[in-house]
Amino acid sequence: MRRAIAEAEVGDDVFGDDPTVNALQARVAEMLGKEAALFFPSGTQANQTAILLHAAPGTEVICDAGAHIYHYEMGAPSAWAGVQLRPVPAEDGLLTAEIVRAHIRPQSPHLPRTSLIVVENTHNSGGGKVIPLEVLRELRGLAEEHTLGVHLDGARLWNASAATGTPLAEYARCADTVMVSFSKGLGCPVGSALAGSREAVQRAWTWRKRLGGGMRQVGILAAAALYALDHHLERLGEDHRRAKHLAALVSGVPGLQAREPETNIVMIDLTAPAGEAEVAARELAELGVLVVAVGPKRIRAVTHLDVDDGAIERAGAAFRGLADRFGW
Ligand SMILES: Cc1ncc(COP(=O)(O)O)c(C=O)c1O
Repeated sequence: MRRAIAEAEVGDDVFGDDPTVNALQARVAEMLGKEAALFFPSGTQANQTAILLHAAPGTEVICDAGAHIYHYEMGAPSAWAGVQLRPVPAEDGLLTAEIVRAHIRPQSPHLPRTSLIVVENTHNSGGGKVIPLEVLRELRGLAEEHTLGVHLDGARLWNASAATGTPLAEYARCADTVMVSFSKGLGCPVGSALAGSREAVQRAWTWRKRLGGGMRQVGILAAAALYALDHHLERLGEDHRRAKHLAALVSGVPGLQAREPETNIVMIDLTAPAGEAEVAARELAELGVLVVAVGPKRIRAVTHLDVDDGAIERAGAAFRGLADRFGW
């Protein structure tokens, strides 16, 4: 990837002149079965651009209560688009048409208008849960019935596709716009893309620029993404296999319970009364295992291309050591 970055042919992407960026955008659009795609510096900026495209100020955007756009994007939907989020409870992010239907506002001079549904696949805080194609199809049908937009936060859509064998384009067909990230399991330092109709992507260009996302010789980053699509997509199944193995190792440790992962995210609950996720994460870091405390008693571990089989065994041993040390 470093070599691909160094050797990238570049131009000025603010003028649409960077051949490597253009190649990446065309490739992503094709993979997702959309007319066009646009390269972004981050998934957050691409998600926010999508909200700006679909939702007028003062309207309401339905998402699940664990959504990335709700928790981890610094209140951007209200700050930039001036919309109100309607986070609705959905187990592990499984936002079904039935749940959404109950939250679409009826037309009324007293109520905000529902404008957009945002669905996340795979679901980050849902522990890498795959939202099944059938669920997305039903959401799409509901959106059409009510003339709502659908945005798919597919930062890890690659993982959903690798886990189920469902082509990316089948998922993407259920949404007007789709965000995918290169900077997570695919291992790039930077980068996401937003795909949709040619018209949507043209408007997204304006929003990206307005948000400060216009980049110049950014082919160096697009080259990394192209490299990742060539070399790192095929191997995502290894991450999923290792995540399952880590979950099995951890679940054998007293005081810990790992949820069975569907993809590359392992949620580990501290079941011992004295177990504290922040403390555990700090101790694990000292043992060379980097995890994040995502709740008072929950740790999130992620497998990716820098985590090999040996690392999983070492992580398992570190979790066992932790339980011994705290006497769980
Ligand atoms: C589901 C999801 N969407 C969006 C993002 C935002 O991506 P970025 O960190 O590139 O802004 C993330 C980041 O973790 C994510 O997990």
